Amino acid sequence: MVFTEISVENAYKILAPRPTIIISTVNKKGEINAAPFSFTMPVSMNPPLISFASVPTHDTYRNIMETDEFVINIPGEDILEQLWITGGKFPYGVNEIEKANLTQIDSIKVTPPKIEECMAAIECRVHWVKKAGDHDIIVGEVLHVDIKENILKDGLLDVEKVKPVLHVGGMNFVVGDHLKKVEE
Ligand SMILES: Cc1cc2nc3c(=O)[nH]c(=O)nc-3n(C[C@H](O)[C@H](O)[C@H](O)COP(=O)(O)O)c2cc1C
Repeated sequence: MVFTEISVENAYKILAPRPTIIISTVNKKGEINAAPFSFTMPVSMNPPLISFASVPTHDTYRNIMETDEFVINIPGEDILEQLWITGGKFPYGVNEIEKANLTQIDSIKVTPPKIEECMAAIECRVHWVKKAGDHDIIVGEVLHVDIKENILKDGLLDVEKVKPVLHVGGMNFVVGDHLKKVEE
């Protein structure tokens, strides 16, 4: 089998499916925002640091620049449609957690709320932000982590049970070993 070249701009599409998170933030006025992200990875265990890349025009980015805090919510397949709604275009200040009919509950160490329907919430404070092409990389220090009961097996995510949402691109996701397309 021979290789075929594709354009370098498409390289990220091969690095898939990617774990998908919903990031919740607040602005200085306390207005809540949430949006999905799949350019994400852990970068350090000690201290615990997790990164994601955001276009600087996103409300998520703007809020993080104002308040330095965010929550990484880990969704399961049961809220894929709601996750998609949080990614819709809403005016600045609109709460996508409410728009998606999800439930916000207080976090422990940071002001942005976590999402009750998600399997886990990782509360973070900004460690550093750096420009990377058309995105900025935001690295957060993990301050507190809450998980739903029984999502771990032998200390690892029980993927046979919880089925995380993985983003292939556009409206396409992998859940378990199935390709799922969200409805428009
Ligand atoms: C599954 C999925 C993954 C996404 N991943 C990213 C990402 O990693 N970085 C990014 O800048 N935008 C990403 N987006 C786009 C934003 O979520 C979307 O533009 C959203 O409206 C931004 O919301 P905000 O302006 O409220 O922050 C993704 C969208 C979806 C649906």
